[in-house]
Amino acid sequence: MTSPILVTGGTGTLGAHVVPLLCSSGHDVRVLTRSARPAGDGVEYVTGDLLTGDGVQAAVRGAETVLHLAGGPKGDDEATRTLVAAAARAGVRHLVHVSVIGADRIPLAWMRTKLESERAVAESGIGWTTLRAAQFHDLALTMVEKMAKLPVLPVPGGLRLQPVDSREVAARLAELALGAPSGLVPDLAGPHLYDLAALARPYLRLRDRRRPMLPVRIPGKAGRAYRAGENLAPAGAETGKRTWEEFLAERLGQGLPHG
Ligand SMILES: NC(=O)c1ccc[n+]([C@@H]2O[C@H](COP(=O)([O-])OP(=O)(O)OC[C@H]3O[C@@H](n4cnc5c(N)ncnc54)[C@H](OP(=O)(O)O)[C@@H]3O)[C@@H](O)[C@H]2O)c1
Repeated sequence: MTSPILVTGGTGTLGAHVVPLLCSSGHDVRVLTRSARPAGDGVEYVTGDLLTGDGVQAAVRGAETVLHLAGGPKGDDEATRTLVAAAARAGVRHLVHVSVIGADRIPLAWMRTKLESERAVAESGIGWTTLRAAQFHDLALTMVEKMAKLPVLPVPGGLRLQPVDSREVAARLAELALGAPSGLVPDLAGPHLYDLAALARPYLRLRDRRRPMLPVRIPGKAGRAYRAGENLAPAGAETGKRTWEEFLAERLGQGLPHG
């Protein structure tokens, strides 16, 4: 039996793609989750909560590699510090972490928690690798679906996204987890840039809906940072291949939209 790879967030959107890749590489995989579930498909589930610390020490026990994907709307910095402390005590050798592009440049409280998480990993004394990824197609779809429920679609001026496929991020993370600690690796974003209208259009077309679009302005420092493109991949970033249109066509179960 090999030392298991612990995956936090292994039940999430990204984790659901990463876990089978690690299993198929022949590794035992352990997943930390807040909800108990039976082992299956070569995966052991350990119940714990990174925000309370419950179960975390038991989860890292015996793991040489920890892939930290867990995240939520609040407290990712605290959660990461708790994981890092437990991993250091348990003698983990490689801590792999996913963060978000712009964590160091967008002045939003949530982004600061991602930057603090990155710092906790980098200062852990454990060999580490951090990948900053762009917004996943899945998240862009959730956003567009919510916007399209409104009678008028708000389009924040100057905001652009470069959404990436979560399967491509998963593949990169699996590769990083199976390799040696590499520090901060090049960011990973999607193949194209979209403003919000361009993201919404193919969705509306596939759903056969029409919505008037209303330009809006994101206020404050965060708005300025987004308009300046601080959320976009810097030079030297890697780009995925799968486009937003391909993702939508597959997810919504129809042919590719034209135009
Ligand atoms: N979504 C994006 O566009 C995007 C872009 C760049 C980076 N990221 C980062 O990628 C990571 C994964 O994102 P995702 O979209 O896959 O997330 P997700 O689908 O929302 O899943 C969140 C995961 O985190 C776990 N989790 C949340 N709070 C936890 C806690 N207190 N203790 C233990 N586990 C906890 C959940 O496990 P249980 O519910 O089973 O407990 C779940 O597996 C996050 O760190 C996120 O910030 C996301």
